[in-house]
Amino acid sequence: MPAQTILITGASDGIGAACARQLTAKGERVVLIGRSPQKTTALAQELGAPFHLANFTDLSQVHRLAAEVQAAYSRIDVLANNAGGIMGKRELTRDGFEKTFQVNHLAPFLLTSLLLPTLIASSAKVIQTSSIAARLTGKLNIDDLQNEKKYTPPKAYGDTKLANILFTTELQRRYGPQGITAVAFHPGNVATNFASDTTHWIRFLYRTPLRRLIISPEQGGQHLTWLAEGTPGVTWTPGVYYENDKIARSNPQASDAGLARQLWDRSVAMLNLA
Ligand SMILES: NC(=O)c1ccc[n+]([C@@H]2O[C@H](COP(=O)([O-])OP(=O)(O)OC[C@H]3O[C@@H](n4cnc5c(N)ncnc54)[C@H](OP(=O)(O)O)[C@@H]3O)[C@@H](O)[C@H]2O)c1
Repeated sequence: MPAQTILITGASDGIGAACARQLTAKGERVVLIGRSPQKTTALAQELGAPFHLANFTDLSQVHRLAAEVQAAYSRIDVLANNAGGIMGKRELTRDGFEKTFQVNHLAPFLLTSLLLPTLIASSAKVIQTSSIAARLTGKLNIDDLQNEKKYTPPKAYGDTKLANILFTTELQRRYGPQGITAVAFHPGNVATNFASDTTHWIRFLYRTPLRRLIISPEQGGQHLTWLAEGTPGVTWTPGVYYENDKIARSNPQASDAGLARQLWDRSVAMLNLA
């Protein structure tokens, strides 16, 4: 089989970096998308992989990233929308959106939308790193997507991880007939740099000896590797959410097709996409 061209966002650290190493070892052509120039170039050198940089708190950088990627690669077999995290106190990005909502949902929505012609032409797999937090702390209010009324870091995080699943189902519904396959997954609770941007107590799970109780980045990355290497419709089912490489139930809102459409339409309007 020829090597797949696999774009991974959030590839500079944690689950994304572990997956990039695993896929490179399998002979795939991995393209690293990172925020930190130092961390991303270091991994690019280690793997001999191409890389691109963008900070998702600035949507103009996502536009620039998409243009760079489209110019550089005629095919994209896999887009792994993996970058993200839980944030601290509520703040707005330079684009005027709540930061968690922009980094975890709007930016990957924009990147995917801008790359759609190449993704469709490549019959690409589009993978979202969601989270069990969608079920535990997510409760989307379509009229308060940016949590102006009820912000806490876990709620904003859970809402966006729920949005990742709704995006997956709606992307599959809209573009599945044109060859795209979309899937979302929870990587496990993984000892990464996750929660480094928050002061919420959840950081103690990731930044103290309690880390030993959760799985390694390599184990978490294997779930993303499994989806990237898999054959949609054979090894995994498009348009659904996985935990431990098995189809799983998430938040009841995740199967609300009307909500998925509304979220898509609101996202298009917020991003001024045609
Ligand atoms: N760890 C867990 O237990 C867990 C559980 C469920 C889901 N997840 C999800 O897994 C994904 C990867 O997280 P991780 O655990 O591997 O954490 P991580 O080690 O902190 O990696 C997060 C990645 O996202 C990048 N990133 C963060 N903010 C960004 C921004 N504003 N613009 C562009 N890139 C940005 C980071 O870049 P830098 O290297 O520059 O920081 C890094 O490459 C996230 O979507 C997270 O929500 C994690």
